[in-house]
Amino acid sequence: MKKFFAVLLAACMVAGTAVAFAGCGDDDMLRVATNAAFPPFEYKQGKAFTGVDMQIAKLLADDMGKTLEIVDMEFDSVINSVKSGDCAIGMAGMTVTETRKEQVDFTDEYYESAQVMIYKTGDTRFTGIDKEDVTATEIETFLSEQTDFTVGTQNGTTGYMYSHGDEGMGYDGYSNIETLGYTTGAAAARDIIEDKVDAVIIDRQPALMIAESVGGLTVIDCALTSEAYAFAVRKGDTETLNAANALLDELEENGELDKIINSFFDGTATFTYTNP
Ligand code: ARG
Repeated sequence: MKKFFAVLLAACMVAGTAVAFAGCGDDDMLRVATNAAFPPFEYKQGKAFTGVDMQIAKLLADDMGKTLEIVDMEFDSVINSVKSGDCAIGMAGMTVTETRKEQVDFTDEYYESAQVMIYKTGDTRFTGIDKEDVTATEIETFLSEQTDFTVGTQNGTTGYMYSHGDEGMGYDGYSNIETLGYTTGAAAARDIIEDKVDAVIIDRQPALMIAESVGGLTVIDCALTSEAYAFAVRKGDTETLNAANALLDELEENGELDKIINSFFDGTATFTYTNP
């Protein structure tokens, strides 16, 4: 028995050392990598962060007994920041993909999403599309027939991969179309209004919210892809992974996950968080 405890103690010391060397800086902090330009999942209200993922981030930090620090960065930096251990977890409306899985471990999926297309209300090129009743195949045909057509997407996203083509995702892309990469989906959407880009392809719920805030835009609510979001942790970081999965399980079982998501979709959410 004594020996067992000695081994256990040694194991704990090794584990403790491993955590200290993980490079996550202050052990009392949970550093969360995000790109807060993706409503309703993560966005800013002044200096404060808000959104579905941000509220879950706060619950996770509380569960882990840590102080939350949200680190806002370009979306295409999130994976690297988790890989390098600078941030313990990426919470960024991130779609699980095979290529990303080679770089990070994903938690359980917590939300199903899809890419959709946005265009300028009144743009006559789109009049053939019945936006209430169009199929993905019809949109694909429409896109592949365009000449002199540009699609705006956020850099590093599955929207970019869909439009540009991506071997890992099995997306052929559209060789007749120029796919532009923006730092945010909202910047791409504003460029539709400025006639600098013809359409934007982005995740469904952000499309609806961005279109509403920019104004003068129409969202074709037809799923071009089928995706699911999860949080990303450094490969082998079972502590963070298990804590996040336990939280997701709990939130799913007690109905809180749906409540959080719905509150941000219907605008009744009140959660905000400001870094200490
Ligand atoms: N779901 C898409 C992806 O994983 C877009 C995510 C963009 N997220 C953000 N916070 N900007 O590629």
